[in-house]
Amino acid sequence: MQQGYAAVLCVLAVMGLEAAALGECEITRLLQDKLQYEMRLQYLKHYFPIDYTVQVQYEEVLRPSNITRLRNGTVSEAALRYLWFHVSSQALLRIREVLPEKHPSWKYTQELCQLFDALGREYSKYRQTDVDVVVADLVKQVHSASAESRRKAVRPKALLDNCLKVMRMLYGRRCGWDST
Ligand SMILES: *[C@@H]1O[C@H](CO)[C@@H](O)[C@H](O)[C@H]1NC(C)=O
Ligand SMILES: *[C@@H]1O[C@H](CO)[C@@H](O)[C@H](O)[C@H]1NC(C)=O
Repeated sequence: MQQGYAAVLCVLAVMGLEAAALGECEITRLLQDKLQYEMRLQYLKHYFPIDYTVQVQYEEVLRPSNITRLRNGTVSEAALRYLWFHVSSQALLRIREVLPEKHPSWKYTQELCQLFDALGREYSKYRQTDVDVVVADLVKQVHSASAESRRKAVRPKALLDNCLKVMRMLYGRRCGWDST
């Protein structure tokens, strides 16, 4: 796996074998179900203190506008999906970092992690050198947070709102599921 960034975010000992055998379209469809509004609201907002935020690097925020901008350049769709995968896994990790095991959102985020782990199998085929340099740099940045990195405060729900919106942009038409 030289030069690749394995998203070993959740490192779950037990993973549903069914999930591991699924392709990216099935996995993202499951993610879309898990990320439906009521669940995001409950697990990522209501179960957190009012106005709770986590600290993330600027590069860990990936919005539809970022995708529009990158698409306008020469970045390939495959590279954009690779970027989304790494940024979203990292966002999930940021949220899990602040959750104690007894927290009511623990299990929910763990289930999301399992889906991202399954998706990681798809993306472990990519090496950093296979993707556009601009994306390779961004992914590197996401994984190399240091004390000096500029940070911003973001609400947990906002991180996964972006994750879902961008996922719809990147997979909706490709996978033939609703992209509205
Ligand atoms: C998305 O755009 C914002 C500025 O609008 C920038 O701070 C951030 O680094 C970008 N994210 C990625 C992953 O490029
Ligand atoms: C797309 O790129 C062109 C030329 O590089 C630029 O003029 C235009 O403003 C860009 N559009 C967006 C939406 O970024």
